[in-house]
Amino acid sequence: MYADVVIVNISKLYTPKGPFVRGTKMSDITQMNEAFIAIRDGLILDLGEHDYKAYIGEKTEIYDGRRLVALPGFVDSHTHLVYGGSREHEFSKKLQGVPYLDILATGGGILSTVEATRNIEYKELLQKSLGSLYELASYGVTTMEVKSGYGLNRETEVKQLKIIKELNKTSPFDVLGTYMGAHTFPKEYKDNKQGYIDELMRDIEFVKENDLATFIDVFCEDSVFNYEQSKAILLKGKEVGLKVKIHADEIVSLGGAELAVSLGAKSADHLMAISKQDIELISKSNTVANLLPGTSFYLNKDYAPARTLLDRNAIVSLSSDMNPGSSPNENFQLIQQLGCLKLKMTPEEVLTATTINAAFNLDLQDKLGSLEIGKQADILLMDAPNLEYIFYHYGINHVKDIIKKGKVIFQNRRYLQGE
Ligand code: NIG
Ligand code: FE
Repeated sequence: MYADVVIVNISKLYTPKGPFVRGTKMSDITQMNEAFIAIRDGLILDLGEHDYKAYIGEKTEIYDGRRLVALPGFVDSHTHLVYGGSREHEFSKKLQGVPYLDILATGGGILSTVEATRNIEYKELLQKSLGSLYELASYGVTTMEVKSGYGLNRETEVKQLKIIKELNKTSPFDVLGTYMGAHTFPKEYKDNKQGYIDELMRDIEFVKENDLATFIDVFCEDSVFNYEQSKAILLKGKEVGLKVKIHADEIVSLGGAELAVSLGAKSADHLMAISKQDIELISKSNTVANLLPGTSFYLNKDYAPARTLLDRNAIVSLSSDMNPGSSPNENFQLIQQLGCLKLKMTPEEVLTATTINAAFNLDLQDKLGSLEIGKQADILLMDAPNLEYIFYHYGINHVKDIIKKGKVIFQNRRYLQGE
């Protein structure tokens, strides 16, 4: 069978294999030298070091890999990139050492972004979000999860979720939505927390009935949603058919990881303050430990115990947490580099954590997340001599070309829209 495109002249190709990889096995990735990738109908027809002539017909395009390194497109399984405004007005407070939760308690933090997100018009918010999405994509992210949670009322949560759907439809990338009405309590319900939870229960049904999200998420944290409240909200989400995620043990350990495992959640995210007991629990489960080192870096907090989780055999992924408060950053390679430098993960483990394990966390492992025959041709061509170099030379963008579903989207770092 002929290919539509064959990418040739790839100096090195690295990929993990699906459907997910646990613990230190995350280092076992496949390397090919002098490789090719044949693509047909947006899927990988074949790849390897062998002869590819059989795939070349009259209409087949030969795409020169220019001796670059090929990787699977990165998957960012935790972002909050749809939001109004920004938070530089809180930056000096942060620099003076005012804690994140104290800024929130005085009506700032998430609540200040809620105000801005309620006030921005749909079209303007869509444009702003597209800007952030393409910035993230330019660093190699070809699939991403995006949360609501800056509306805290039906109208604005729905506005965010509709924009997330539109990002999926109008961009070449795969974008999945998460309903996070339980991001914090809105000011209207400051003294009536149960009232807000009752409203959330109704909104969860509305979100599902209108097919507005794939996942549900809760910020289970001291002075935000406690264990019991988080459980009730997530159970409701699960009951209507949303897949479960949770912001767990980010600042204070409330047992969020244990809750995630007991609910069969797809992932428990953050885990900077996870207890020893919960490390054991999550490591034995299929709930992904989704670590967000950019947030530890930005909040000047401890890093999640990645090495212990890996030694105990957990399924680990890494994400950006891109948001205006605790991780305002779209440089996904910096997140990967922090994975090596601060979480002490190997380059191979980081690659697995940001491709196939992140895809598993989004339930997309059969479709993408690795370079394997039959999977979507989501491919990065990186300007580097080898995999280690990408994580060693930090802070810059090593991506040259981005191919999504077999189509070249960025070439030599230039976005190719309409060309
Ligand atoms: O994952 N923790 C809650 N949510 C985000 C921060 C959101 C914000 O500060 O705007 C997080 O860190
Ligand atoms: Fe988050």
